[in-house]
Amino acid sequence: MARVMNFGGGPGALPRCVLEQVAAELPDFASTGMSILEHSHRGTAFERVFEETRALIRELLALPDTHEVLLLQGGASMQFAMVPLNFLARGAVGAYVVGGAWGEKAFEEGGRVAAILGASTQVLATSKANADYVEPVYTYDAPLGNTAYVHLTSNETIHGIEYDKPEGVPLPLPSDSNVPVVCDMSSNFLARPQDLSRISLAYAGAQKNIGPSGLVVVVAQKQFIDAAATRAPNALSYAVQAKSGSMYNTPPTLAVEITRRVLLWLREQGGVAGIGAVNHRKARTLYRAIDESKGFYRCPVATAARSEMNAVFRLPTPALEQLFLSDAAREQMVGLAGHRSVGGIRVSMYNAVSELWVSELTRFMDAFAARHG
Ligand SMILES: Cc1ncc(COP(=O)(O)O)c(C=O)c1O
Repeated sequence: MARVMNFGGGPGALPRCVLEQVAAELPDFASTGMSILEHSHRGTAFERVFEETRALIRELLALPDTHEVLLLQGGASMQFAMVPLNFLARGAVGAYVVGGAWGEKAFEEGGRVAAILGASTQVLATSKANADYVEPVYTYDAPLGNTAYVHLTSNETIHGIEYDKPEGVPLPLPSDSNVPVVCDMSSNFLARPQDLSRISLAYAGAQKNIGPSGLVVVVAQKQFIDAAATRAPNALSYAVQAKSGSMYNTPPTLAVEITRRVLLWLREQGGVAGIGAVNHRKARTLYRAIDESKGFYRCPVATAARSEMNAVFRLPTPALEQLFLSDAAREQMVGLAGHRSVGGIRVSMYNAVSELWVSELTRFMDAFAARHG
């Protein structure tokens, strides 16, 4: 079957050339006579793959030596638990900035772990009151004493809200410059140049911009990892993972190899600066189609906070939304349904979604609005 245009929220589209390279090499990796799936993770062939993957992340982010790059398992949701598990000592507070559904989930999970550890969590700031997150205006609470970290989410995949875009809304960093900042960057990691200098630990599930699900990239200041407050179980300890070269246990070898290929592809696109320019143009094209539809398509998110990765919008009725989805599928455009918790339409424009796909989609949107508006 011909390849469809995949606008899914994650797992998202991957570059076709990468899928083809990996498929071609699956039975015989780099002329070694065996599959990457069969190679020992301690063998030279896979070690090279692993180290190149980590080095590419370092290179693409221009990371200094002060930072560690870890490739872990369990997806971003595991990080919701790992962060408090490593950094919340008894009596300490994990503070959360909640700007959407993923921030909420991180906070809830943090609370569960904190309860086990005799620690606690706090919503430091939230934009929930503002029409269910769509305005990035925060209600702040006074920080509780003994705050171990502040947790942020740089792109809210479900609500379509993104921070720190050029000319956009800045990440709501805590005013106290000494508080470590932890950031869930799952859905905009490596999608444009990003300044991680104020972030002690960032994590990203791979399945949006850089690879398959299950794999999670952690970029953290070594100092922060070394200062972990608790001794977490080995597989869940950043310090243990860092000490063992991020290979305490068997990594998901195929997922790492696919990620390596995606990162090489990303480098060919001009790195984060190159892909960032493309992503910016894609988002401009898509939001223009919404804004010029005379109200047929409505994006609820405040303009400055609109995500370049996930554009969410509504049509006049749920019935029209269903028709939009089925007509789009007939034109080979899939993955457009909004998250089941919010409904509507969501267009995810991750790195591997081409400009051509986005212009095809906007052409379809214009024609659909002309037919039904
Ligand atoms: C911002 C964000 N955080 C966390 C997650 C959870 O990721 P995973 O399913 O890899 O645990 C997602 C998944 O969509 C996400 O978009």
